[in-house]
Amino acid sequence: MNRIVSKEWLAPTVARLVVEAPLTARKRLAGQFVILRVKDHGERIPLTIAGSDPDAGTITLVVQKVGKTTSDLCALEAGDTLLDLAGPLGVPTHVENWGRVVCVAGGVGAAVVLPIAEAVKAAGNEVDVILGARSQDLLVLEDELRAASTHFHLTTDDGSVGEKALVITPLQRLLDEGNVKMVIAAGPVPMMRAVCETTRPSATPTMVSLNPVMVDGTGMCGGCRVHIGDQVKYACVDGPEFDGHKVDFDELRARLAIYRSQEQAPRGPGHCEKQMTPVS
Ligand SMILES: Cc1cc2nc3c(=O)[nH]c(=O)nc-3n(C[C@H](O)[C@H](O)[C@H](O)COP(=O)(O)OP(=O)(O)OC[C@H]3O[C@@H](n4cnc5c(N)ncnc54)[C@H](O)[C@@H]3O)c2cc1C
Ligand code: FES
Repeated sequence: MNRIVSKEWLAPTVARLVVEAPLTARKRLAGQFVILRVKDHGERIPLTIAGSDPDAGTITLVVQKVGKTTSDLCALEAGDTLLDLAGPLGVPTHVENWGRVVCVAGGVGAAVVLPIAEAVKAAGNEVDVILGARSQDLLVLEDELRAASTHFHLTTDDGSVGEKALVITPLQRLLDEGNVKMVIAAGPVPMMRAVCETTRPSATPTMVSLNPVMVDGTGMCGGCRVHIGDQVKYACVDGPEFDGHKVDFDELRARLAIYRSQEQAPRGPGHCEKQMTPVS
């Protein structure tokens, strides 16, 4: 069991949880995630490790309420416990001293980008962070991302704060300035796809952190299968970061919709749809 040490709301549907997980806290690297269960008979869900404190033996999770399990998780309070948690999982972010790197975060993708931006900056890079959200009240981790960046750019779709634009507007400006050696993006699938189309003409290397449905996290169930070029990969063990210019985003979007009808169907107690059906 993993005890929740603290909980705070970052936005109306986004909570930050600090959770006891001493081994994970010691071993985790940027880009890695955990798979956890909130309660018995519940489904497993993957969440990025947004930060850790190895001395306190805790990890930080930032979770957005989108369905049953994330709602159950966000309903917990400090002192409550998770049923179990496995991690760190996934391949850590490949970090080099490239020179100038642009990290693009959309919505709760900020939780994924934060540890990556910190690691990229620690490796000596000049880091531009672009944080975008639909509106001001949906922005999360702004202060943390500012601190992790050399230059910070804020956009909202409705212009309630920052530049009224999509994240690709400042990204294009930075590309036009030249010298961008790497772009790393995490957020909704359409945003990551748009980032890749923005960097494709200049062939600027672009890594995206994919969010397919995951079940076992071990490469066995096939739930997180993605096509990267002509290769089949499993995001849980080969990713979650891949060369964005090679990702089959149509397939990813279609596979994310596979469970939509079950997710919207009434749920009986203890019923767990996502563990029933391995996907080929
Ligand atoms: C590597 C990785 C890291 C992630 N990190 C974060 C994070 O830091 N913060 C955060 O808020 N979310 C993160 N997610 C997404 C999170 O796992 C899903 O939002 C969560 O599983 C939804 O569960 P639910 O039961 O509440 O919603 P449901 O009602 O079951 O599903 C709502 C939508 O969430 C997605 N989803 C559902 N189940 C899964 C699953 N097992 N794996 C992936 N996506 C799923 C689907 O798109 C689905 O349509 C991450 C996903 C991956 C793959
Ligand atoms: S979650 Fe990746 S193969 Fe099962």
